Amino acid sequence: MPMVRILGIAGSPRQNGNTSLLLEEALKGARAAGATVNKIVVCNRDINPCLGCGWCRRSGACQQEDAMEKIYGLTLSSQGIILAAPVYFNSLNAQTKALIDRYQCVWARKEILKEEVTDPATRSARRGLFLSTAGADDPHAFDGALKVVESFFRLLDIEYFHRLLFFRMDEKGAVKNHPTALRDAYSAGTQLVAEISRNLAEVRA
Ligand SMILES: Cc1cc2nc3c(=O)[nH]c(=O)nc-3n(C[C@H](O)[C@H](O)[C@H](O)COP(=O)(O)O)c2cc1C
Repeated sequence: MPMVRILGIAGSPRQNGNTSLLLEEALKGARAAGATVNKIVVCNRDINPCLGCGWCRRSGACQQEDAMEKIYGLTLSSQGIILAAPVYFNSLNAQTKALIDRYQCVWARKEILKEEVTDPATRSARRGLFLSTAGADDPHAFDGALKVVESFFRLLDIEYFHRLLFFRMDEKGAVKNHPTALRDAYSAGTQLVAEISRNLAEVRA
């Protein structure tokens, strides 16, 4: 079976909160399915927001020196991304959005400098899973966040595999009281790896 690398991104500032718990289960599922798993806890990393300086438009690189230097490589070389982040004011929470904004240099490499940012041979195998929770009693609470994640995945040549969105989840740990949420996340993690493995086998055949 081809080796699958999965990167989990824990975006919430609330440690062991709802989206962190979902991510843990999804990563357990991914490991059980044979993937090599890396995880970034965004709030534990030194990640500055984008300065909009435009330096990357010419160089393709960000001139800020922080944790992003390593994170770019991990995101572009993993075939699966699991992004877990809560809804804050109808978007993603600020730390997750700051991380995403820092991919402007990848956008510049791809769209201005016309570089390949991912491996063309295996690009079509790449898949993404989005895990999110919101406090409101409203399934539309995710609308804004979904737009952001869609463009993030598209930039990274990642096709949406699946998303798990749970509303009415205001309290810390509320996902534990949901009848299926944690099991759903575990199973999404295993299915994500199975799908990427199939895709890799196909492109390498
Ligand atoms: C600053 C802030 C803004 C929030 N904004 C929204 C919102 O716009 N809509 C919503 O449904 N829930 C909102 N929530 C609730 C969170 O989405 C919810 O508590 C979520 O489960 C938190 O996930 P976490 O435990 O992984 O951090 C907000 C919470 C905070 C702290």
